Amino acid sequence: MAILVTGGTGYIGSHTVVELLNSGYKVIIVDNYTNSKPEVLNRIYQITNKKPKFYEVDVCDLDKMEQIFAKEKITDIIHFAGLKSVAESVEKPQLYFDNNIGGSKVLLELMDKYDVKNIVFSSSATVYGIPEHVPLKESDKVGGCTNPYGQTKLEIEYHLMNYSKSHPDANIAILRYFNPIGAHVSGLIGEDPQGIPNNLMPYITQVAIGKRPHLNVYGNDYKTVDGTGVRDYIHVVDLAYGHLCALKKLEEKPGLVIYNLGTGKGTSVLELVHAFEKANHIKIPYIICNRRPGDVDENYAEVSKAYKEMNFKTKLNIEDACRDSWRWQSQNPNGYDE
Ligand code: NAD
Ligand code: UD1
Repeated sequence: MAILVTGGTGYIGSHTVVELLNSGYKVIIVDNYTNSKPEVLNRIYQITNKKPKFYEVDVCDLDKMEQIFAKEKITDIIHFAGLKSVAESVEKPQLYFDNNIGGSKVLLELMDKYDVKNIVFSSSATVYGIPEHVPLKESDKVGGCTNPYGQTKLEIEYHLMNYSKSHPDANIAILRYFNPIGAHVSGLIGEDPQGIPNNLMPYITQVAIGKRPHLNVYGNDYKTVDGTGVRDYIHVVDLAYGHLCALKKLEEKPGLVIYNLGTGKGTSVLELVHAFEKANHIKIPYIICNRRPGDVDENYAEVSKAYKEMNFKTKLNIEDACRDSWRWQSQNPNGYDE
């Protein structure tokens, strides 16, 4: 069984590769380093003592991807490769459509040609648009995504559904991630955002290490426990484990399945800030600012389907994630750059 992991040197991909290698899977990574660094491979080796096969290739490059499919005996694909910045997608929508949808189309074409039956796709809670209620169930309405990034995820979900209809023997797991945070407990791999972080946890760790003077809290007048936005923060190691559960599920030949990967619990911005302070004994100065356009009050997952159908349950909590995020940041103040 050889698993092709696209985007395997990225944040979630690298943590998943570690779990796959530790569980004895043969892993082949494809990444073009658009948003990752070669050093990740050394770190994966330090953690696992194993070297996955690596191809520096753009998943949108059909010819180069075909050479990999022709050479390797791929049984399953985990497709992480994609661009993920909401703000950048608003500025460069065409880039996001070409890269995210283009890469997925290449994979489906090659799955068909080389008779690869199983694929796990990284989708996002963003496909639910503005939630009508929480917790969000897989059967809830999708659509109404206000940015091109979210639209690419939904579009790819539709492509996968069409592929499933025309290929009844294909097995497809669409995983809708909520908010991944945390890092591997070794502190050797973690999230390495370029420039000013958009997401909350990397911003908090950069305040903690002194790179930024304070956190900007985007609004305290939401209809939530303390007025700040509520999200479902899932430890990236739990999220990585969710992909192993999905691979096992695909062995049952279920056709197309969709699962939320979250904790089922909402945490506000200020609750996360205080949890970080408590776990690491570091004060995080913050100021309350205007709301960020496009943000919603509350977003968290209904998680019982993933538990019932693929036995997925998170094991780590917010404190673990705060401690591990800080270990990664403090051991690697400049991420993977020396
Ligand atoms: P990431 O940017 O750290 O990892 C993505 C990886 O894909 C990077 O290593 C990048 O170099 C690579 N890549 C991008 N385009 C490529 C291409 N055309 N060819 C080859 N490699 C390419 O992001 P991540 O946080 O690890 O996210 C992984 C996936 O999960 C993405 O598809 C993302 O949209 C999705 N997702 C992420 C989050 C999140 O909050 N991090 C939430 C929901 C969904
Ligand atoms: C954002 C994206 C979403 C994407 C997800 C993961 C938007 C509108 N949504 O989700 O599409 O799937 O990231 O990449 O960009 N916050 C602050 N200060 C900060 C940063 C964030 O107060 O400096 C708040 C936000 O207002 C929000 C919470 O923290 O309430 C979480 O924000 P973030 O980490 O960006 O995740 P999402 O908004 O859930």
